[in-house]
Amino acid sequence: MIRVMATVLIVDDEDFMRDSLGAILSKAGHGVVAARDGLAAEKKLDERSFDCVITDLKMPRMDGLELLKRVRARGQTPVIVVTAHGTIDTAIEAMKAGAADFVQKPFGAEEILARLDKALGLARLQREAANLRELASEQRPMIGGESSVMRELKAAIERMAQSDATVLIAGESGTGKEVTARAIHAASPRRQMPFVAVNCAALSAGLLESELFGHEKGAFTGAERQRKGRFELAEGGTLLLDEVSEIDPGLQAKLLRVLQERVFERVGSSEPVVANVRVIATTNRDLAEHIRAGKFREDLYFRLNVLPLKLPALRERREEILPLARHFLERHARKLGRVAPRLSPDGEAALKAYRWPGNVRELENTLERLCVLESGQDLNAGVLERYLSVGGGGATAGGFAGYAPGVVPSLEDVERDLMAYALKTLGGDKNLVAEKLGITTKTLRAKIRKWKLQG
Ligand SMILES: Nc1ncnc2c1ncn2[C@@H]1O[C@H](COP(=O)(O)OP(=O)(O)OP(=O)(O)O)[C@@H](O)[C@H]1O
Ligand SMILES: [Mg+2]
Repeated sequence: MIRVMATVLIVDDEDFMRDSLGAILSKAGHGVVAARDGLAAEKKLDERSFDCVITDLKMPRMDGLELLKRVRARGQTPVIVVTAHGTIDTAIEAMKAGAADFVQKPFGAEEILARLDKALGLARLQREAANLRELASEQRPMIGGESSVMRELKAAIERMAQSDATVLIAGESGTGKEVTARAIHAASPRRQMPFVAVNCAALSAGLLESELFGHEKGAFTGAERQRKGRFELAEGGTLLLDEVSEIDPGLQAKLLRVLQERVFERVGSSEPVVANVRVIATTNRDLAEHIRAGKFREDLYFRLNVLPLKLPALRERREEILPLARHFLERHARKLGRVAPRLSPDGEAALKAYRWPGNVRELENTLERLCVLESGQDLNAGVLERYLSVGGGGATAGGFAGYAPGVVPSLEDVERDLMAYALKTLGGDKNLVAEKLGITTKTLRAKIRKWKLQG
């Protein structure tokens, strides 16, 4: 059997037991942390995550059964229960409460090591199964609703789900356009049917055409057999045309025809195929600009834009940042089989003040990295600073601002970013900041409180 090295929390009120079990595990190459009762163990669990907990049952202050329940409530860490008073009843009770295994004292080194390996292997399988389930269902819940824009968006999704009209979702990269498209499909009467996505920017015009409409055998060199396109694969369901602005003009005409007449032909065929497909398109470009530049057909735009939906940038709905952050911390920690690190109040403020040019995707990626690299520690402003590419609130390495071209921020955004930048640059000297910005320190303090800036 391959032995997996683990970090184990040993909980027992007898010094001798803690020491001898600790010695057995260390000798086998495992990391060991010890605690003398349930309460002490909980403290250790707050500090870091463990791969397994081995606990005695009878202990002062908090016994093993209570500890077991609390560990289970926290997450997936397996718990092996050890007791000298091994009656059948306590064993059953412990297993019911979710113990991974039950070992009776006295036990030999080989026995406890084998039980530990078994528990670790099982925990890993459970974790993998949970990850697979999540991947397979792609049922990532859509988080949000603290801000009025998100509440409106969710209501719009519900309404749009009841119609078959084409939806055009616009928004900066990473704002959740695909998540929204999936949510519309999932709330629609088509939910049992396929959801199929095509990235229009990823393929050349020729390949995209056969990808969308399919082709007959021999339609072009390399077409060795008939192939169904995405329109046919999505039959009865929803087709997502991702980054629709990138479709080649020639193909735009064909797409327009499907949207108008609901029929198309496979490449190399003249036989019409009827498409019963609800189309959703996304764009992170300004389509009006594309139309003016002659790169996008206006008639196609009107066909796509029957139900327009605009996803706001994350910095335009800052109330959503913390709920999303906590959700991502939980999710990625669970994936790794760890306890989610906690955000300290100044860490939360740093997340809220940051500009998030990459929107929700950047937030998720940042928190995933934090889960991997900083587990077992409180995430404070100092830790976060190292992960946020542009220093808090729009202060770039080069100087103030750093808004992307074409982005017009609100005055309040600029004001907050400027204050965060000034505070950082001037080392938090409020008198100096107020003087430079031409405001009173009283006003400055009020805004620092309002935006939870690092004063
Ligand atoms: N409201 C939300 N709740 C939970 N997760 C979200 C939410 N919005 C976005 N995400 C997550 O953020 C990431 C980016 O979302 P998505 O792929 O939908 O963005 P996009 O707008 O399509 O981006 P792009 O323009 O780059 O394709 C995904 O991992 C998604 O799961
Ligand atoms: Mg996308």
